[in-house]
Amino acid sequence: MFDKLKPQPEDKIIKLIGMYAADPRDQKLDLGVGVYKDASGNTPVMRAVKKAEARLLESQDTKKYVGLLGNLDFVAAMGDLVLGDSVDSSRVTGAQTPGGTGAIRQIFELINMASPDATVWISDPSWPNHEAILKYLGMNIGKYRYFDDATCGVDFDGMMADLDGVAEGDVVLLHGCCHNPTGANITLEQWGQVTNLVLSKNVMPMIDFAYQGFGDGLDEDAEGVRYMAARVPEMLVAASCSKNFGLYRDRVGVALALCKGDTMLTKGAMATLNRVNFSFPPDHGATVVAIIMADPDLKAEWMEELESMRTSMLSLRTGLAEALRRETNSDRFDFVADHRGMFSRLGLTSDQVDQLRETHGIYMVGDSRFNVAGLPADGLDDLAKAVAEVL
Ligand code: LMR
Repeated sequence: MFDKLKPQPEDKIIKLIGMYAADPRDQKLDLGVGVYKDASGNTPVMRAVKKAEARLLESQDTKKYVGLLGNLDFVAAMGDLVLGDSVDSSRVTGAQTPGGTGAIRQIFELINMASPDATVWISDPSWPNHEAILKYLGMNIGKYRYFDDATCGVDFDGMMADLDGVAEGDVVLLHGCCHNPTGANITLEQWGQVTNLVLSKNVMPMIDFAYQGFGDGLDEDAEGVRYMAARVPEMLVAASCSKNFGLYRDRVGVALALCKGDTMLTKGAMATLNRVNFSFPPDHGATVVAIIMADPDLKAEWMEELESMRTSMLSLRTGLAEALRRETNSDRFDFVADHRGMFSRLGLTSDQVDQLRETHGIYMVGDSRFNVAGLPADGLDDLAKAVAEVL
């Protein structure tokens, strides 16, 4: 049987992790996969997480199954974190999932179950796994322009022109904040225009919300999503706790659905999709999040640490933009300071990206996406010199 298998297309982010690990050089820099790193290059367990885990270890007296939708306190807390008070919570249902990717997968399957002919429109470019999962599921994929290579900002006119081609019942996938891979984000006013399009075309908005708290702040990052949620009849959100709680390997995510009224059918479909895919979602990380969100002190501690992660990424952005300005004697890279989130693309060719890796041991994704959190605070000049050298 196995000889019938075909070689699978590689995910460029996962491939880069392997290449970096196999590089024997001492002097190398990993700007690939989106994992937060502190000034010493570690990805720490957040303080509030450690405390909540200690509490859980102490108090947990059974490992019996929780339920198909996971920890419902966690699901409700995530609904609040994402949607705030923009909607009546009785219209929201959700399922705990293994990570944000699990939420995306479950939501795609929910769309497929309800509306197999729908086209899911993704930004061009987008996180590569959006397209990979949709292809794997055999779903229809549409792409809308998103990024203007010349300005390194959002090509909003192009985006709206392409979205004008959506058909009733299609799905438009938006990044809630901190667009991956570009770091260029639509403004609140533009969220308003996309909301009008969603309403006039009668399409389903789906939000990938993997970086809440990494851009302008927890509430600020949710502004566009909440604006839209308050105005549309239905919406889907895939949220992740990998980054903002640092729970990467524990796989903590949630698929949320905003329904017109009654949530029963959607909730039942989500429970069934969990059952047939993995049955019960993994509990540990989600319960840790639920403990943090229910305790004002732990929540405050978590928010404080998240805020310091966010501001340190912002100062790395400013520092790199300044270093690149000095080294290249141009304002070509000033956009790095204006972008938000964990990533930006430097706008290098794939040959230049290869050269950075081969000559300088600097690893970034082939489209020149780099992980801001991986930037070395005391090595920005060297990095900028290397970039200037390959230009
Ligand atoms: C990334 O884009 O680097 C992260 O979302 C991690 C991943 O799974 O790709």
